[in-house]
Parts: sequence; structure tokens; C-alpha cells
Amino acid sequence: MKNERQPSQVNFPDEFVRRLKAAKRMVVLTGAGVSAESGLPTFRGAEGMWKSFRPEDLATVEAFQRDPKLVWEWYDWRRGLVASAKPNAAHYAIARLEELFEEFLLITQNVDGLHRVAGNKKIVELHGNIWFTRCFAEGTVRENRDVPLKEIPPRCPDCGSLERPHIVWFGEYINGALLDKAWHESEKSDMFITVGTSGVIQPAAGMSGIARNSGAYVLEINLEKTPLYYTANHTVEMSGGIVLPEIVKLAESFS
Ligand code: OAD
Repeated sequence: MKNERQPSQVNFPDEFVRRLKAAKRMVVLTGAGVSAESGLPTFRGAEGMWKSFRPEDLATVEAFQRDPKLVWEWYDWRRGLVASAKPNAAHYAIARLEELFEEFLLITQNVDGLHRVAGNKKIVELHGNIWFTRCFAEGTVRENRDVPLKEIPPRCPDCGSLERPHIVWFGEYINGALLDKAWHESEKSDMFITVGTSGVIQPAAGMSGIARNSGAYVLEINLEKTPLYYTANHTVEMSGGIVLPEIVKLAESFS
């Protein structure tokens, strides 16, 4: 029979199922955990990059000014990892959710661009994108897909100044228009799903609270409890690659 659902591997609360069925405006917030199943390292946790690298050496303007070569070598290594990574079941499920919900926004802290490869178009990349560079002097943003980079550090073809990664580093501001859009859509959402983020870096960490306070149902998906547990209506302690396809199946059964 059409739309008949198979038994789910995930026990969703009845309220989640009811709210998903009624949902008109979905927001999904992602973090590094979504790309972990594509083989990309997360930042925190036992295997996280911040265990072996110090953010203040690699992810601040001061670090870049002190040693642009070191910073770029790190990004060149990460670009190499991303270049050989492919979207996983979680990315594809989120792309399908964009098709299923007319009002949809994906807010991601990830800079790897895998959500676009999976098919998402309505995206706010809060922390930038690893495939873009920015002239340190003039601010011109350029796509650069060279793996490895032809020269480290790369230089602006127009003025010869250093280029930096088009990434939001610690202590920097997120583009105001992007941030406004993310806040606004979170506030308007009636279903907010947060997945694969440790929920400790602002402003992303505050978005589920905004959504919940404005009446949305907030579902957290993570391998472990995070501070977002306290704002979520429900936390599923499982991988995004298992849970998100189950949400897609549910949503498809309603359409
Ligand atoms: P983190 O590395 O802090 O957290 C990753 C989260 O994903 C953890 O809570 C894991 O438990 C969870 N996780 C891992 N594998 C998972 C899976 N298969 N399914 C579901 N969850 C899984 O990454 P972010 O929260 O994204 O910023 O980090 C936020 C920001 O801090 C990053 O964007 C980066 C970093 O410093 C900048 O570089 C500016």
C-alpha cells in the first residue's frame, strides 16, 4: 500500500510525530557531527581537532597575522579531507526535507559545503565555506577549489595581498544579513531539528532556544547529551545518519 511505513529503528515521541505532521516551517541546524559519518573530524570530543590543534594558533585573525603559512597549511590539509569526502545519509535526508517542506531553512556551522553537494539550496552557512578565499586587504571573495593549493599562503590575483580563508574565526562577527535570516527563520519555525552540534558556540547554540520560546517543537539529534538537551522537547541519542532518514520516511508518509 502506498505510503505504508516500515517499523522505525527510532522511537519518536507521539508529540514529535504529531507536530511533524502539522509542521509548515522547518529549520534544521547542523554541526560537525553531520559530516562525521563522511569521515570528517569534528572539533570537540575524544577525536576532535581541538584536541590536537589550538584554535588560537589556527582560527583567529591574530594567528593569521602571526603565521599565515601555518594557518593555510592547516586549511589546505582540511580542504584535502573535504575534497575526498562525500555526503552521507544525514546530508541526503536533510536535502529531502527541503523538498518536503515549502518553508525550510538549513542553518549550518559546517564549512565543508557537503550540504550543497547533497542538494540543499536554502542554506545559511554561518561560519563560511572552506572553498572560498578572501583578500585580506580588499575583502574580495573568490572560489578556489585547488587541492592542494598552488601557493601557500595564496595571494590576491588583483592586488597581491594575502588571501585568508572565507571562514568566520573566533572573535569575528557573522555576516549580519545571514545572522538575521537565521534568527528570523528560527523564530518563525514550527519544527526545529538540531543535529550533530555540541551546542556550545554562539550564536548557533542559542537558535534552538529562540525557536522553542516562539512555539516550535525542538528535536535534538546527537550521539550524546549536550547543553541543547535543556531547550529541546526531545533528544534522540543516535547518529544523524540513522535518525534523519527515519524523519524523512515519516514526513513522506504524511504527504
Ligand atoms: P563539535 O565538534 O563541537 O560537536 C560535534 C557534535 O556532533 C558532538 O556533540 C558529537 O557528539 C556530535 N556527533 C558526532 N558524530 C555524530 C553523528 N554521527 N550523529 C550525530 N551527532 C554526532 O562541532 P560543532 O558543534 O559544529 O567553529 O562546533 C561548532 C563550531 O565550533 C564549529 O563550527 C567550529 C568550532 O570551533 C569555527 O571554526 C568558527
